[in-house]
Amino acid sequence: MAYQHEYERSLASPELFWMEQARKLDWYEQPGSSLYKDEHKLYRWFPDGQMNTCHMALDYHVEQGRGDQVALIYDSPATGSKANYTYRELRDEVSHFAGVLTGLGVASGDTVIIYMPMIPQTAIAMLACARIGAVHSVVFGGFAAHELAIRIDDAKPKIILTASAGKELSRIIPYVPIVRKARAEAQHEVEACVVFQRTIHPAGLEDEHDWDTLLAKAKPTECVPVSPGHPLYILYTSGTTGKPKGIVRENGGHAVALSYSMETVYGMKPGEVFWAASDVGWVVGHSYIVYGPLIHGCTTVLFEGKPIKSPDAGVFWRVIQEHQVNVFFTAPTAFRAIRKEDPRGNLKADYDTSCLRYLFLAGERCDISTLNWARDLLEVPVIDHWWQTESGWPMLANPVGLELFPVKEGSAGKAVPGYDIQILDPEGAEVPAGTEGAVAIRLPLPPGCLPNLWQDTERFITSYLSRFPGYYFSGDGGYKDEDGYLFITGRIDDVINVAGHRLSTAEMEEVVASHHSVAECAVIGIKDQLKGQIPVGFVVLKSGVTEEEVTIQQALIQLVRDEIGPVASFKKVIIVERLPKTRSGKILRKIMRHIADGESFQPPSTIEDPQVLSEIDQRMSQELEKG
Ligand code: COA
Ligand code: AMP
Repeated sequence: MAYQHEYERSLASPELFWMEQARKLDWYEQPGSSLYKDEHKLYRWFPDGQMNTCHMALDYHVEQGRGDQVALIYDSPATGSKANYTYRELRDEVSHFAGVLTGLGVASGDTVIIYMPMIPQTAIAMLACARIGAVHSVVFGGFAAHELAIRIDDAKPKIILTASAGKELSRIIPYVPIVRKARAEAQHEVEACVVFQRTIHPAGLEDEHDWDTLLAKAKPTECVPVSPGHPLYILYTSGTTGKPKGIVRENGGHAVALSYSMETVYGMKPGEVFWAASDVGWVVGHSYIVYGPLIHGCTTVLFEGKPIKSPDAGVFWRVIQEHQVNVFFTAPTAFRAIRKEDPRGNLKADYDTSCLRYLFLAGERCDISTLNWARDLLEVPVIDHWWQTESGWPMLANPVGLELFPVKEGSAGKAVPGYDIQILDPEGAEVPAGTEGAVAIRLPLPPGCLPNLWQDTERFITSYLSRFPGYYFSGDGGYKDEDGYLFITGRIDDVINVAGHRLSTAEMEEVVASHHSVAECAVIGIKDQLKGQIPVGFVVLKSGVTEEEVTIQQALIQLVRDEIGPVASFKKVIIVERLPKTRSGKILRKIMRHIADGESFQPPSTIEDPQVLSEIDQRMSQELEKG
């Protein structure tokens, strides 16, 4: 009943509900009201009040006597290093680094790009931006220079913060050449670049500044009060075009929502240990490696490594035991990778993970077999929950802080308080239980969700609000059952999820189509046992092309790696005579996906030539059999 009561209250009177939550935080000046509409007639939260997210995450806890509690544990099997930062130490490091930023002329409202690996300095950089009211935009290290350049041109950062290198399983990734290439490609001029030197691979610096040299000269800097609507960060995510969307997060609603979610969704108490095994380049890292656990007074684990080969597939159990993790969050892919290496979970026997209460999974659809395997191994409830970069915090979950419902396999849980989630038919009517449709959320969205896109209100409205007036359209399909559980069936647009990483096939198509031998192409996501989905490119060559097929295939794979980055996992190109199309020339990507996944389908009556489907099927089988 606790859930039902809370959920109904959150929808019946959202203004009061979120004001109550807001009062739990340490504002400089409490907001006087909550929900309002801005100049674009868009819903926003907390029009007034004064606050600082870094203060709420660090200084406040030091003032409240948590100064000696560990705030952040850095555990890096990738490099063999570990470090602990207490709340006091982290506050001091952050306030010092904020001095570096102000010394470089960064002021409240300026943007800063952070292109860094999973090291404490990345979290320090984010919090230092928040401390002075600067707006950070973290770019995931697996993206190539071109992707970084796109983000530089959109966010127009005053400075870029980077590190000399990242570390993947078997290789070092020098970041400085990538940043230089991106700066050369971008139209926008960045004023300065600061490099944190890592001993694994120090970089030779040219016009870049050395992090530690600047730090030695910097003075500690106090928090700058901002209004709740002041942007905290921009995080780019894949949309259905080649240009990523700049999701904006505001300081006020974000702090309120994350604090609420730590308690309600994850059932965490201040002082406990939370571990999200993700990357700070993704929304999970922003919300639940950095801001959420710290705002809630918890200890967070920042893990630089992979679930396998770090040095083995027992590393997760080692970290849980060693740091006494209470709640753990990762993507199902990580568990599929572990299961592949250690199918019986034998390595788990070496560790005592009895400190763990729950495992939360998100980022992609969780197959039932992985869910059950994880539950049997860890002997804790395994909770699939659903959210997006846009929401910034869970929309569907089993909110264990309120009440643990029976887990229904295949379901990502029930609507989290604040979210009025409905399944709609193409005309926007709500469908009955059991019927699949578009997953949409009746407006207003709760605090913490995106208020807009970075300087692109028109795209915000067309991407999310126009499809179903009065609702936010998530881009996912799904259905509800009689008990109010929701089942997410997958994206209904051209976004794919590869190893829990959200990618745009449209963006990959743009890159493939730019090759001189390609006449036309389609990139689709097909099912993959490990990564959930992987992209496959179907390519029609220009007539008269004489290069060997394999040369073209390799060139296209390299091109996507160079332009988008290794994270795209674009490793399969199939050369075909023609693509299936409607008579009006639209490529039938959905049908191609059904063929690849071995699912039944009905060819549309508008198909130009049904014969092409069997040609595609045959080529696909030949190529996919090759592995
Ligand atoms: N910097 C540079 N390169 C990176 C990178 C980074 N931060 N992250 C990934 N890459 C590279 C990888 O090295 C790999 O390169 P390769 O093609 O040369 O092998 C490529 O990008 C694809 O990465 P990934 O999809 O992560 O595959 P992987 O084989 O390295 O690892 C898993 C597979 C399953 C172990 C890994 O994907 C994983 O741990 N997933 C967990 C999911 C997760 O954290 N999701 C985040 C959202 S919650
Ligand atoms: P991202 O913005 O990178 O977090 O990706 C969000 C997308 O990942 C969603 O729109 C879904 O398609 C997918 N996703 C996230 N969590 C889940 C889940 N629990 N089940 C199914 N799909 C999910």
